[in-house]
Amino acid sequence: MAAQLVRKAFSTAVPLARRYSSEVRTVTLIPGDGIGPEISAAVQKIFAAAEVPLQWESVDVTPVRGPDGMFGIPQAAIDSVNKNKVGLKGPLMTPVGKGHRSLNLALRKEFNLYANVRPCRSLEGYKTLYDDVDVITIRENTEGEYSGIEHEIVDGVVQSIKLITEDASRRVAEFAFQYTKENNRSKVTAVHKANIMRMSDGLFLHCCREVAEKYPDVKFEEKYLDTVCLSMVQDPRQYDVLVMPNLYGDILSDMCAGLVGGLGLTPSGNIGLNGALFESVHGTAPDIAGKDLANPTALLLSAVMMLQYMGLNSHAEKIQKACFETIKESKYRTGDLGGSAKCSEFTNEICRKIAG
Ligand SMILES: NC(=O)c1ccc[n+]([C@@H]2O[C@H](COP(=O)([O-])OP(=O)(O)OC[C@H]3O[C@@H](n4cnc5c(N)ncnc54)[C@H](O)[C@@H]3O)[C@@H](O)[C@H]2O)c1
Repeated sequence: MAAQLVRKAFSTAVPLARRYSSEVRTVTLIPGDGIGPEISAAVQKIFAAAEVPLQWESVDVTPVRGPDGMFGIPQAAIDSVNKNKVGLKGPLMTPVGKGHRSLNLALRKEFNLYANVRPCRSLEGYKTLYDDVDVITIRENTEGEYSGIEHEIVDGVVQSIKLITEDASRRVAEFAFQYTKENNRSKVTAVHKANIMRMSDGLFLHCCREVAEKYPDVKFEEKYLDTVCLSMVQDPRQYDVLVMPNLYGDILSDMCAGLVGGLGLTPSGNIGLNGALFESVHGTAPDIAGKDLANPTALLLSAVMMLQYMGLNSHAEKIQKACFETIKESKYRTGDLGGSAKCSEFTNEICRKIAG
């Protein structure tokens, strides 16, 4: 999916796509913290059962202190992602306190992972309030409210800068339209508050409009963020692909995940100029870590997105089918889905289905 897409949209990705023609490919694995190692091991086991032709290069991203006193990603992890161009990442704990910044943010910036893609689809057999949700949120991932530019003007007055650039806005808009076209979808909705943030959201919207003109076959609409929140919970079927600045995407994509059963089921991909990092969007779940209770579905479906990105579609299809069937049958559901199965039991059932 996205490998083709990025190849078409950005010439820098051509050599990357060619690399994928060799037999066994290496991808970086960041198991992460809390339940991360358990769900990563589950994904590895399922990939082995499906005989996916790739090997994992596991790296530790425990922050190391740099010369400036700030904690950052270890060089070995950076080198691994730069070399392999594709990675799978479990959740990371962000320590609260001075001297730490979000490792997730650091990874996005380090590898210029400019588009966060989150498919939210209803799962057959797993009942939620809605039966037929099928929306894709595409979030600008590098700037906006998450630019990290904050300062104190005077005592008691602070300022946080929302930075929007034409380049980043056009790049993510281009990605959204290409994605829509490549995946035979029909409509892109640009989500904004340009009535209030006339310059920043205005520029984002302007870029979306310009890109839309190049895709006459894709329907384009513009909607206010608040309108989308209201109408999404009233009738999610009216939406298809949504593209938006960073903060709106962070919030709206979690809301969409809620419509289909929560973060334990939602995969995501961070697509960059020169590679991609796929990750589960839930956190480290410290309350259940080490107890064999975690649901590995979100990380597994993120790994399925990774396989599609790499063009390994038949393996992706086989794994996804086994996962969906296991959830639908309900016998081996984990606690977050109302079941009583352990992570290992759910994993073993998927492996059994793949083998069978
Ligand atoms: N992408 C990331 O790396 C990421 C995202 C969110 C939070 N975090 C970090 O995770 C830590 C904990 O955050 P939190 O408690 O707010 O959110 P969380 O997602 O870790 O947990 C919220 C609730 O959901 C449950 N849950 C989450 N994932 C699950 C899974 N796969 N299977 C079953 N249950 C699951 C947890 O048990 C908990 O009850 C924090 O340090 C935070 O910074 C990381």
